[in-house]
Amino acid sequence: MKFDILTIFPQIFDSYLKESIIKRAIKSRKIEINVHDIRKFSKDKHKKVDDIPFGGGAGMVMTPQPLYDAIKCVKKSNKGPVVFLTPHGATFSQSKAEKLSKHKEMILLCGRYEGIDQRIQESMIDMEISIGKYVLTGGELPAMVVMDCVSRLIPGVLGKEESHMEDSFSKKLDRKKEYPHYTRPAEFKGMRVPEVLLSGHHKKIEEWRKKKLK
Ligand code: ADE
Repeated sequence: MKFDILTIFPQIFDSYLKESIIKRAIKSRKIEINVHDIRKFSKDKHKKVDDIPFGGGAGMVMTPQPLYDAIKCVKKSNKGPVVFLTPHGATFSQSKAEKLSKHKEMILLCGRYEGIDQRIQESMIDMEISIGKYVLTGGELPAMVVMDCVSRLIPGVLGKEESHMEDSFSKKLDRKKEYPHYTRPAEFKGMRVPEVLLSGHHKKIEEWRKKKLK
């Protein structure tokens, strides 16, 4: 899976891509992530990427030229959908992530300020995604959420044990049910793990877990 991410704050992504499962997936080439600075495409002498809205109103709007040139440039090597991260988009979910994971490539556009010029929205965006009914300072965290969630569905990104967990996790998500988990030590600050889990009696453990499903 290839992600091309368009942002005016490319450094936000640096540390996330250098850790854990995503780092390993990049190294093993299961995923490729290219982060592009929209500002570099600005033809303005001060590299401006925003301006005041026509008709007045609060906030700034991302200007069309840098966005147009950035998307055009990235599209040469990425044939996937252009996904705009915005609080006005369709709410992201596990099933949306599963659909997106069927693509081989995608372009994630991070919005800032009040939004992007409507002409870009209408002519270059294939899909608008929100990660929830709240407003963040920009689309960078949402782009990371989408990229992370889609990446872990790509075959080989999770290890064997983790993939097995993924199967049961999807089922659990459907049922919205989960039983409590405990690990060592058996006693922590006076709180003991339920005895049945230490018994080694698989049938009883299964029954206990069924009873505790929430
Ligand atoms: N940009 C700001 N808030 C957002 C949200 N909730 N989802 C996607 N993009 C956003």
